[in-house]
Amino acid sequence: MAYPKVTIVGAGNVGANAGLLLACKNLADVVLIDVADGVAKGKALDLMHMRSNEQFGPTILGTGDYSDTAGSNIVVVTAGVPRKPGMTREDLLKVNSGIVRSVLEGALPASPDALFIFVTNPLDVMTNLAFDIACLPKQRLFGMGGVLDTARFIHAISQKTGAEPAQIEALVIGAHGEGMLPLPRLATANGTPLPELLSAEEIETITSKTINGGAAVVELLQTGSAFYAPASSIARMVEEILKPTGRVLSVCARLEGEYGIDGIHMCVPAVLGRSGVERIVELELNDEELDRLRAAADSIKAQL
Ligand code: APR
Repeated sequence: MAYPKVTIVGAGNVGANAGLLLACKNLADVVLIDVADGVAKGKALDLMHMRSNEQFGPTILGTGDYSDTAGSNIVVVTAGVPRKPGMTREDLLKVNSGIVRSVLEGALPASPDALFIFVTNPLDVMTNLAFDIACLPKQRLFGMGGVLDTARFIHAISQKTGAEPAQIEALVIGAHGEGMLPLPRLATANGTPLPELLSAEEIETITSKTINGGAAVVELLQTGSAFYAPASSIARMVEEILKPTGRVLSVCARLEGEYGIDGIHMCVPAVLGRSGVERIVELELNDEELDRLRAAADSIKAQL
């Protein structure tokens, strides 16, 4: 069977686990590419050794050569240096922007028609930088941040309310960092609005757990940052692109006037599909939510 082709740049913790999920879900043939080509090749071989146990169809190739990525439908960029304890996402800016630039130089000519999903942190800045460098249509270049933040929000809601994650509707938008904006007012658990289920104080605890979710993992691991949930969030977006359901996800997408914000990528509700960001969904935010979203946009712009 012919599968779509997904290249993952950066065969580290996030990239390799994303590859694992894409293969196990029978979504796409995966190419793992890394400057450390032995790492990419070794992990690809290790993953291929799983094939008979897991009975998945796609193949996984490891490489250090962009010619092997040619003709990819989707390129996911996880190459970068992960956040260390005490390090803010913004500290990573300098190192990772050089990496993003070099990745585009290799990946874009090889797959000129691909969709590009950026994952490297600081996510908002990297995605905006990549958009400026790549000169691609806005539908085709976007970032993964909001899906992960939303997954953490849903986990916190599930733990507090006892509702199954599948029965929770919630979104986190804004910046993928301190300026993130969980939307408890619009969230529901088992169909009931969160503000009817929990006190303001309980909701505050949930939003704070969401915002600090990544940092909490960093503190516990001591070396490196979260990777299972980020990898799963990548797979979720790829799945939505390859098998669209019309479901609204939080995507770091280009705004051109939506929410009164212009000329910037940030996490907003959007529908993904075969051509990438099919449309941005404008929720009816109240004044406070809108102010906070616009403040997050300003803080991202200030870093560009
Ligand atoms: N081209 C290709 N791969 C690169 C490049 C480059 N120019 N520079 C670095 N890499 C590779 C590294 O060799 C490493 O294998 O990127 C990989 C990063 O993997 P990890 O260090 O394990 O980092 P990981 O935890 O996977 O996080 C990757 O995702 O969530 C974000 O903040 C995180 O920005 C980080 C990224």
